Amino acid sequence: MATDGATGRLTYSDYLKVPELLEQQHCLAEPPAHDELQFIVVHQVYELWFKLVRHEADEIHRLLRAGSDTDLRNALRLARRIEAIFKVLVGQIHVLESMRPADFLKFRAALNPASGFQSVQFREVECLFGLKDETLASYTSGDPRHGELQRRLAETSIAETLYAVLRAKGFDVTAPGDARTEAQRDATLAALKVVYDDPDDHPLVYELCESLVDIDEQLILWRRHHVMMVERQIGDKPGTGKGTTGDLDGIRYLQTTLMRRVFPDLWEVRTLLSD
Ligand code: HEM
Repeated sequence: MATDGATGRLTYSDYLKVPELLEQQHCLAEPPAHDELQFIVVHQVYELWFKLVRHEADEIHRLLRAGSDTDLRNALRLARRIEAIFKVLVGQIHVLESMRPADFLKFRAALNPASGFQSVQFREVECLFGLKDETLASYTSGDPRHGELQRRLAETSIAETLYAVLRAKGFDVTAPGDARTEAQRDATLAALKVVYDDPDDHPLVYELCESLVDIDEQLILWRRHHVMMVERQIGDKPGTGKGTTGDLDGIRYLQTTLMRRVFPDLWEVRTLLSD
């Protein structure tokens, strides 16, 4: 690792590769548009946070598979970290909202047909938690990380592993999916109701489930805030990813994503609780 030439000691800049980081923003608009740097920096920062979310989520998944109570408590601690990161991700959207729509239009054509829709790390995060979609994944086929995404599509997700944890704790649960029968679904919700009726009798399982619902909720809040910001910027115009989002594009496509849930059973169980 490079060090301070004068003292030979490691510097802040060397450790964090600050010069290299500051070289990674290449604005494309001609004539130059003031807001393009803001747009690039915000997106790059998202990608760095997605990298950290992947790192933490992989460790959560390992701990859930290991399965001792200590492992589960550590998984819970890291799940809270991901929730904290997502709160930052939701808040960051305000930076883009400081851009006037007319100023966005000064450089929007330069980035066409690139779109956040092609963020392979976002798809990896969705996949890791359990939102797997081969069609959406196929749109990132030109990306260097596409192979990683394909691997994750084939792998067990955190949502599926949560059901294995619950079964190991004695609950008769089956993960949602094509193979789950109606009877298995009813048994799963009945078992979750036991946990949610008396959280104090199952504190670790309850806290774990709720910390995953916290992450699910933050992901939904990000989608909602993103679609509102997009509407504020481009109204009902087609997105730059037009042609890859099926029959719908722009905010019409984004609105269809708002009902996606990583842990649908954990949301549904609340309706079943008795007064
Ligand atoms: C002015 C700023 C932004 C605008 C106008 C915008 C617009 C859009 C639009 C219209 C779509 C739908 C696909 C398409 O038609 O292209 C989309 C999807 C998406 N955008 Fe953005 N976006 C902005 C900022 C961001 C940022 C900062 C991120 C952070 C990484 C992001 C991540 C995504 C993701 C992940 C999707 C796919 C969502 C899904 O399929 O569930 N966008 N965006």
